[in-house]
Amino acid sequence: MKRTSVYGVLSAASMFPLIQWEEEVEVFGWVRTIRGSKNVSFIVLHDGSTFESLQVVVNAELGIDLSKVSSGASIRVIGRPVESKGQGQEVDLETTVVELIGECGEDYPMQPKRHSMEFFREHPHLRMRTKLFQAIFRIRHRAKMATHEFFDYGAFIQVDTPIITGSDCEGAGEMFSIGEDFFGQEAGLSVSGQLEAETAAMGLGRVYTFGPTFRAENSHTSRHLAEFWMIEPEMAFAELDYNMDIAEGYLKYVIGEVVKKCPKEIEYLEDYIREEEKNFKKEDKSMSLMEKLESVLSDSFERITYTEAFEILRNSKPNKKGKFEFPIEEWGMDFQAEHERYLVEKHFNKPVIVRDYPKEIKSFYMRDNDDGKTVAAMDILFPGIGEIVGGSQREERYEVLKEKMTTFDISHDDMKWYLDTRKFGTAPHSGFGVGFERLVQFITGMKNIRDVVLYPRTPGKL
Ligand code: 4AD
Ligand code: MG
Repeated sequence: MKRTSVYGVLSAASMFPLIQWEEEVEVFGWVRTIRGSKNVSFIVLHDGSTFESLQVVVNAELGIDLSKVSSGASIRVIGRPVESKGQGQEVDLETTVVELIGECGEDYPMQPKRHSMEFFREHPHLRMRTKLFQAIFRIRHRAKMATHEFFDYGAFIQVDTPIITGSDCEGAGEMFSIGEDFFGQEAGLSVSGQLEAETAAMGLGRVYTFGPTFRAENSHTSRHLAEFWMIEPEMAFAELDYNMDIAEGYLKYVIGEVVKKCPKEIEYLEDYIREEEKNFKKEDKSMSLMEKLESVLSDSFERITYTEAFEILRNSKPNKKGKFEFPIEEWGMDFQAEHERYLVEKHFNKPVIVRDYPKEIKSFYMRDNDDGKTVAAMDILFPGIGEIVGGSQREERYEVLKEKMTTFDISHDDMKWYLDTRKFGTAPHSGFGVGFERLVQFITGMKNIRDVVLYPRTPGKL
């Protein structure tokens, strides 16, 4: 008798004629559902080896005691794969042995019915028992693997930048402090690995980080986490346009891989979302998930400058009242989520890359444009998400960078290591940061970023 998995049974059955299954196999897993009649019981078994489940058929004649085999219990089964007589699956496991391994208490919260996302969040440790979260996390895994593939194919070297750091890269004062006792100076958790990645790119040429990122911003939105993962590629001898090409190519590659390799998961999420939207008003209903993903893949992203975006927004009529909550008043203001979503969802109806932002609202390291007012920054805005990528060409001119640091009140002494790269063989270079959870949120169609993280950390919630 061979020990195998749900995947083992289903994939072998699809490859070989079922007649070859003379021997019995042994499979372990959890019971998703069990239903029965007088003559026969059906157990739907899952074990994580594939998104699909195995239907286990137990003939009542065998006299197997199934009284404790309830939804959520773990079991061991021995049986022979046979062609299914039912609909929805090709193969059943006709069992001779069903052994209870772990009973499931009657107060098991994850009953096989529809629960609210709020309810799931109260039981984060049990969410992975549900098909919904299995779909989300299988996709998250695929997206992570595709990320490494993309950069590896592109000859990027993966580097890990420190998590404990002394420099607040973004300068937004959102660093979690871990005190100064240990290091003899104020230390914190990294808000970005960019500055260190830049120094690595000045020698390795093309690098990328994929690491945990921490921001102590008090944002209670569906798109913010206090702990998230960021992918930060950095390329030497690269200008802003090329940076945008790589970022667009990256997003399309990852989405394409998930579409190709997780069709069952997407189909499941699509049904889930459609069910959820039944209670919505007609105008709030969106494209199906697959349509949304394919629309990103099929067309090039719109590319505009901040100034062009500003003009579009100023002349827009976003709703019946014709007003944004935050009015578009003066050139130089930062855009809010409502503005970003208007550009993407109403005006262009596809992802938009906005470039050349006013220098006052962006970070010190971004390269000054010749107009003296803007910097070579770019944000990629996605439907339903808003900003998914933030990047820029970096200021590579030693004197200009020093001056910018003075303006932003950043100590030259503390940042000597950073300035040095501009002194010893400086090179134009660019990079960007992808919010990995925002990307997974987009691909899975989840309304809240907390539902694509195993244990989300948000203000007031550890
Ligand atoms: O735009 P940000 O702040 O850019 C940087 O940190 C640069 N150093 C990146 C670079 O050029 N190497 O952050 C990058 C992305 C955002 O576009 C967003 O997708 C995500 O990180 N992000 C968050 N995701 C979840 N929760 C938060 N609190 C986030 N803050 C930023
Ligand atoms: Mg940003």
